[in-house]
Amino acid sequence: MIVTIDGPAGAGKSSAARSLARRLGFRFLDTGAMYRAVTLAARERGLDLTDGAQLAELADRIHVELVDDRVLLDGRDVTTAVRKFEITDAIHYAADNPAVRTQLVGWQRAAAANHDVVTEGRDQGTVVFPDAQCKIFLTADEEERARRRHADLHSRGEQIPFDEVLANQRLRDHRDRSRSVGALVKAADAIEFSTDGLTPDEVVAQLEKIVRSKQ
Ligand code: C5P
Repeated sequence: MIVTIDGPAGAGKSSAARSLARRLGFRFLDTGAMYRAVTLAARERGLDLTDGAQLAELADRIHVELVDDRVLLDGRDVTTAVRKFEITDAIHYAADNPAVRTQLVGWQRAAAANHDVVTEGRDQGTVVFPDAQCKIFLTADEEERARRRHADLHSRGEQIPFDEVLANQRLRDHRDRSRSVGALVKAADAIEFSTDGLTPDEVVAQLEKIVRSKQ
């Protein structure tokens, strides 16, 4: 069974999807981590991110693996490095690149082949797994999302002012919604679910109910 969870940045998708996968005994796919790893690899090599062809060629050459909540870039653990604000800020170059997207869609389908998965991103229910049995569109109030992202960065030692986190999120939401391929949009058959006012445990319990009702 494929369960897709799409939605804007900071809606709580990653932690909810990870816990849900654990409860169901499914594989968890953090597709944002793939876009992050491509961006990190480009940054480390000093590539010009605006050079779309070079970026696509790089995505073709590197090997990104998601193993037990870890992100491996050519076998090296980059779990912490990919979540840095600097990477988040530059991710749109990879996310807006159609050739990079095609490549990553391939990685995502390969990772899900012959497995039960909970996959999380922006285009999972629309582009990558249009036939998924259970599609969820997770949302939350904009300021609440920015507060969570701010606290998350703070806990990782990155002191970014709240206003900057909020502005960056607005820009990312806008870019995610308006890109020509793989745009963030609710699939017609997705169930919209707001995490506002719910604890992480309550969110996972509700999501599990939704999935069980589709099994
Ligand atoms: O989910 P996360 O915040 O890690 O995703 C980082 C960025 O990667 C998103 O803002 C989005 O631009 C991009 N992304 C995407 N398609 C996906 C997952 C993430 O374009 N399936």
